[in-house]
Amino acid sequence: MPRLIVISNRVAVPHARGKAGAQGGLAGALTAALEKAGGLWFGWSGKEVDDPSDQPKVGEFGGVTMATIDLAPQDVEEYYNGYANSTLWPLFHYRIDLTQYERDFGLGYERVNERFAASVAPMIQPDDLIWVHDYHLIPLGERLRARGFRNRMGFFLHTPWPPTRLFVSLPFHERLVRTMLEYDLIGFQCGEWLESFLHYCGKELGAEVDEATGRIELDGKCVIARAYPIGIDYERFTALRDDGEARQTAQRVLSSTRRRTAMIGVDRLDYSKGLPEKLDGISRFFDHYPERVQDLVFIQIAPPSRADIGSYQDIRETLEQKAGQINGARSRIDLVPVRYVNQGHTAAELFGIYLACKIALVTPLRDGMNLVAKEYVAAQDPDDPGVLILSRFAGAAQQLDAALLVNPYSPDDIAHNIHLALEMDPAERRERWQRLIVTVRDDNVQRWTENFTGDLAATRG
Ligand code: F6P
Repeated sequence: MPRLIVISNRVAVPHARGKAGAQGGLAGALTAALEKAGGLWFGWSGKEVDDPSDQPKVGEFGGVTMATIDLAPQDVEEYYNGYANSTLWPLFHYRIDLTQYERDFGLGYERVNERFAASVAPMIQPDDLIWVHDYHLIPLGERLRARGFRNRMGFFLHTPWPPTRLFVSLPFHERLVRTMLEYDLIGFQCGEWLESFLHYCGKELGAEVDEATGRIELDGKCVIARAYPIGIDYERFTALRDDGEARQTAQRVLSSTRRRTAMIGVDRLDYSKGLPEKLDGISRFFDHYPERVQDLVFIQIAPPSRADIGSYQDIRETLEQKAGQINGARSRIDLVPVRYVNQGHTAAELFGIYLACKIALVTPLRDGMNLVAKEYVAAQDPDDPGVLILSRFAGAAQQLDAALLVNPYSPDDIAHNIHLALEMDPAERRERWQRLIVTVRDDNVQRWTENFTGDLAATRG
């Protein structure tokens, strides 16, 4: 197998891991992918400095070479806070109401992609497989091609791809997608995002698209686009069952909730995660069943994310208000129905929390995949598993269809499914969990990596 070069906006350098709550699934998944294959991981250090060097800082961690560059404040503003997270992120999550189309953001995005290309170029050998990740770096492959690199290059999008009617609201949308077609292989999390992409290529670019194989032909070039659903590092995560920190955390949750059923939500504080809508659903549940305040406690872990962006500050405020309103209306002297926690947690702590909570409420309005749902399933006790309530608009719903699937926009649907979960008998819980665990265990991150890199290695080069 040729050497693998992974390029992503963030690089999970070990000392920066730990309580990685806001890190999201990507960094964890790529750590697992590279530890197995070895190779090089290149990205942003997360640091902002005046006048940064193009020369990456390089370190070796467990067989993986990590190379990072710093960014200038203007780059962070226009590329990371700007085009990546105020233009593409909301647009890709169907939120054109929040999408900002600023010319400076687009220029900053192209400038930083060019800097990434210039910095990584001296490290690339002719046979290397290059695997670029996520919406921050769509044009990077084209920037490398412009420097003469003929390596096999793949791109994986961790977010949804929006329907064509929304995507065409992006100025210069054709230009962006044409850069994407410079890769040899393009991966999406599920069939729905893939279909939207193929539809766009056929309708807006006039490409020849074969939906059965994902083959796209345009201007004499050919690219393959496919769905590769990402999974968790199942072996490593489930090994936490015997971890002292996991057991202690489970005990802390159980002793603090006493006889009440604990229901858990873990999401980055992001408007795509449907957090206010989730609280509306919980509020509706208590409106319908006020006496159940004695039976149910909801714990929402929501580490802050992208806090320099206005829409993220707004969502935090809304959430705090809603949690306060439910607690104000429903608390008793000895119980509070909603616990809202802003901190990140280690993987071991999360394992313990998932194990102790008999319901998980995972209700993003739109999500590329959602690995919290898969981790929750993995952490359950096979003899007495909890119930997963999952948004039908998460990529994970296409695989985890034995969960209780809900419409996250409907408070009544959320309330109804919380009630079903509370009342579900042990036999049905076990039967549903046995179906869920098969895909969580088998469609894991190692298989995802093997499938994608195997297909990439088999492309023309
Ligand atoms: O794909 C979602 C994503 O942008 C990932 O790149 C990352 O794992 C996560 O969200 C966290 O976001 P950020 O890197 O902006 O903190």
